[in-house]
Amino acid sequence: PLIPLRPLLEATRKHGFAQGAFNVNSVVQAQAVIEVHEMFRSAGIVQGADLANAFMGGRADFMKGTIEDKRRGARRIGEAVKKLAQDSPIPIVLHLDHGKDFESVKAAIAGGYTSVMIDGSPLPFDENVELTREVVKYAHARGVSVEGELGVLSGMEDDVFSEHSTYTNPLKAVEFFKKTGVDCLAISYGTKHGAVKGENVRLRKEIVIAVAENLKHEGIFGVLVSHGSSVVPQYIVEEINQLGGKISQAHGIPLDELKSVIKSGIGKINVDTDIRLAVTRNIREYFARNSSKKRNSVAEAVSTIWELMERNPEQFDPREYLTP
Ligand code: G3H
Ligand code: 13P
Ligand code: NA
Ligand code: ZN
Repeated sequence: PLIPLRPLLEATRKHGFAQGAFNVNSVVQAQAVIEVHEMFRSAGIVQGADLANAFMGGRADFMKGTIEDKRRGARRIGEAVKKLAQDSPIPIVLHLDHGKDFESVKAAIAGGYTSVMIDGSPLPFDENVELTREVVKYAHARGVSVEGELGVLSGMEDDVFSEHSTYTNPLKAVEFFKKTGVDCLAISYGTKHGAVKGENVRLRKEIVIAVAENLKHEGIFGVLVSHGSSVVPQYIVEEINQLGGKISQAHGIPLDELKSVIKSGIGKINVDTDIRLAVTRNIREYFARNSSKKRNSVAEAVSTIWELMERNPEQFDPREYLTP
């Protein structure tokens, strides 16, 4: 069945675990996420980013992310995941990742998303509160859960780049929960989006503990979300590079660091980069295995992809080379 995020968040706090949330850019990837969760007899969160919706809306230049494309893409993935979830014995959530504005959130909900993130983190605190509160009102009235964000992760977040992190202020986070009524909140506490997170990253656990303790003290329900949490398995990076890739300085969050924050208050852990890396490794292996012998006879489309990969060895976003 397809469910909102809220009951799953409550379960994470009751039983002290965290739920992985996995980004997809296509129906087949959503299917894979659901199948793997069925294997583990776990509930599952399928995430589509704002630009993933634009991509699934069917445009090569998805980075422009027009609202019409997002609407169409949200409907496509929404209808597909609804059907997949109906056929599945496990509870599935379809969650919008990094919703950019109110319109994008509405597009996701209209398409069938059961949970949305509104990322007002680039805004000043009061404006972030105001926007998020409006989204909560709109979403909750439709049985849809809401994630907000407070603080800045270093690196690329959506199309906003920042060199340094601004860690989340725990007291502000509690105030944010109180004023907006969000079900969960993304915080900045040492993680980072993308494949280059630095070596031996240590997470600022005291931020998680401070928010959770203060929430408990005030009698407010709220779960914290860990973005930028890919572990970046070194063997996958090495295999990509052996297959002609050029990915350097790729390091993720150590698994033990992530494990250590779950009991303290992190109930949702976002993963996108690890999936991009795995897909890239497999596609490179496929082409490496098939290129030398079949190179002359493969379809035009395939050689275009292969040439593109040779010209962009640092590329590991499947959307780039699947577009042609
Ligand atoms: O957290 C950000 C997402 O991983 C970005 O995904 O490039 O599909 O918007 P996107
Ligand atoms: P990674 O880049 O570490 O996979 O983080 C993904 C994420 O936070 C999606 O919102
Ligand atoms: Na942010
Ligand atoms: Zn994120």
